[in-house]
Amino acid sequence: MRKKIALIGGGQIGQILAMLAAQKEMGDIVLLDIPELENPAKGKALDLMEMAPHGNYDANIIGTSNYKDIEGADVVIITAGKPRQAGMTREDLLAVNLQIITQVAAGVKQYAPKAFCIIVTNPLDAMVYAFYKLTGFPKHQVVGMAGALDTARWRAFIAMELGVSVADVAGTVLGGHGPDMVPLPRLTTVGGVPLNEIATKEQIDKLATRTREAGTEIVKLFGKGSAFFSPAWSAITMAESYLKNKHRVLPCAALCEGEYGVKGLFIGVPCLIGAKGIEKIYEIKLTDEESAMLQKTIGVVSKTAEETKL
Ligand code: APR
Repeated sequence: MRKKIALIGGGQIGQILAMLAAQKEMGDIVLLDIPELENPAKGKALDLMEMAPHGNYDANIIGTSNYKDIEGADVVIITAGKPRQAGMTREDLLAVNLQIITQVAAGVKQYAPKAFCIIVTNPLDAMVYAFYKLTGFPKHQVVGMAGALDTARWRAFIAMELGVSVADVAGTVLGGHGPDMVPLPRLTTVGGVPLNEIATKEQIDKLATRTREAGTEIVKLFGKGSAFFSPAWSAITMAESYLKNKHRVLPCAALCEGEYGVKGLFIGVPCLIGAKGIEKIYEIKLTDEESAMLQKTIGVVSKTAEETKL
């Protein structure tokens, strides 16, 4: 039987997720939005069915506003919620998106209690925490998409700056999904060559700052709404690692219970994703300077998690 992918939120990111999941033949796809937007969700699903002959994929794709349709989903990716507008921080979305995540958590808990759940809605670290608390799902089954995107941005900017293939840039970004995130230049390489040896300190600082502000850079350019291509592909990479038991090691917002000195919070850390979900969190030995930066981001994440009052 084909796998089933439920996409909660059929907006900018949701529609790209549907297209990528179809093209990758990850399974049948359900695109769920609010009742007022059920027809657009159905229309997007139908459009994707009509793309299949040229896209060369077989998938049943439906649009709906009824949670019953996600019944038995293997993967749930949640983008339901408001995106940022120019001048807003991710935290400004907390109250409105917490209400939405509360509804979504109830629907997913009822109809897809075994699914691997990837949360994309911002403020990410607080929303994944809320979803975990509200569903009571096991920790290996709930994860936030942030580090995969932040690391993609870090790698992309390095490739652009140095004129090298992005395929050869390896690195990681830890911490919360906000301006305090922690790119790790010390552990970044370009084709095995340490970044510190081929880029100046000024270049590296500039790249780190751009990475921390990357979401805001896009929001400013759009004027309305936030990034959608790169968040979608990042979430799909995580889903694919789960469905195909690929054991990708990707930075994700995972529940830490002692790792990195964090207890009971979702923080961006390198995770192994396989058929059991988040199978392992890798702990990196950090320098004092890196640890101090991580502590700062943990403080911010802790505050927004507290604000959910869950
Ligand atoms: N149930 C299902 N869908 C919902 C609900 C709900 N309760 N509430 C809102 N939605 C839908 C909206 O109707 C909309 O179609 O979620 C969709 C969100 O789509 P966009 O507004 O286009 O936002 P998008 O760019 O996809 O971002 C979604 O991800 O990266 C984050 O900050 C971003 O929080 C935002 C989220």
